[in-house]
Amino acid sequence: MLVDFVCLVCLVAVCSANTVFPSLFFSYKLVPGLRVSVDHSDQMPFSLPEAESLLTRAFEQCLSNGYIIANVPGLKLEDFASFDSFQHIRDQMTKSSTILSMPNVLSNSEGDTLDLNRFESVLSVHCNARMHYIDGVDEDQIPRYRDTRTRVIRVDFPALSSNATDENRNKRLQNYDEMIMKIIREMPTPSISVLFTTNTTKEIDIDEITDKNSIIRENEIPANPKVISLDMRNKVRTSKRMIFPDITVFDKSRYFEYERNEKGERGGLDKDTAKKQSKDDTWLKRKKKKIVKNKSLYRFGEDDKKTTSALANQDFVHDNALLIVCMAGIFAFIVFFDVVKIGFTMLKKVVSTSKRKSE
Ligand SMILES: *[C@@H]1O[C@H](CO)[C@@H](O)[C@H](O)[C@H]1NC(C)=O
Ligand SMILES: *[C@@H]1O[C@H](CO)[C@@H](O)[C@H](O)[C@H]1NC(C)=O
Ligand SMILES: *[C@@H]1O[C@H](CO)[C@@H](O)[C@H](O)[C@H]1NC(C)=O
Repeated sequence: MLVDFVCLVCLVAVCSANTVFPSLFFSYKLVPGLRVSVDHSDQMPFSLPEAESLLTRAFEQCLSNGYIIANVPGLKLEDFASFDSFQHIRDQMTKSSTILSMPNVLSNSEGDTLDLNRFESVLSVHCNARMHYIDGVDEDQIPRYRDTRTRVIRVDFPALSSNATDENRNKRLQNYDEMIMKIIREMPTPSISVLFTTNTTKEIDIDEITDKNSIIRENEIPANPKVISLDMRNKVRTSKRMIFPDITVFDKSRYFEYERNEKGERGGLDKDTAKKQSKDDTWLKRKKKKIVKNKSLYRFGEDDKKTTSALANQDFVHDNALLIVCMAGIFAFIVFFDVVKIGFTMLKKVVSTSKRKSE
């Protein structure tokens, strides 16, 4: 009886167990339509074919001049919890116009992950890209080049051991992060796409990552990320469904798709398109994020709610009190003498007319 029960529990556990792996993609240049075509929250799992087709779509458009495909065997979603280990990746991600974070990609069987070779061939066929393979340890392998041909740097990092302590894993990941930064620095272009992924999977309880009620939705997010409720903070801390939530979930501007890195690259437009483009101010509406600035950073006049008289400004009055008193005095003096003068003139007139009458 007890054995039966244990078997049943085992069976249920096996049935609801699934293998997943995390993947993170970001592109400096906007990949138009990519985010819009994801018809569910990033906090819900992605199927493997879905993930592959989204990434293929991003790659085949050749929007970047440099591509980094990084594979970290043994990488788990929990590793992303240590923000410090991903300093440079997070920097580059923040600058990017398109971010596709896939905390959980469902895999059909253990070790069945993204077909990175297929992405490479897409890039070499569509973008005439040149491939470089490096092992993620030896810096000298980083290619140094100055031409404009599209490059793909495939980095196969050494596996993270499942035995290692969190501290050791984080240290390793920090080294990997620095390696990626060095690769980015050697590229003669800011227009870079990075795919950070793994070729190993991990078992997970599927119910834990498919409950729609525990998704944090856009309308629950406060405009000021500093006032996130304690309840939501706890939800995020224990969540197994987000990568770098401060960038991907709580930055409201990420819910809209727009080019963040347009730097005078409008060449080649004919007049009509240029006109149309200059009329498009919808981004102003889309960008809802409010920038809260420290008062010490205000430029002149920036904290004025409305234009007010200098005399209503206490500092101004205090600093220039003597001058203001003198000016006011002179003004009063002039007015007083004018009034007296006018009075005298009128008195004279009255006196002279009465004199004339009496004569
Ligand atoms: C993952 O990649 C590493 C490094 O390229 C390789 O040695 C390993 O066999 C791969 N593992 C799987 C499950 O494909
Ligand atoms: C992990 O630890 C176990 C026992 O402590 C050991 O047998 C195994 O070889 C270790 N694996 C790795 C990859 O270090
Ligand atoms: C604003 O900046 C000043 C100087 O940098 C600092 O002392 C102060 O604490 C800051 N205030 C806030 C509200 O961050």
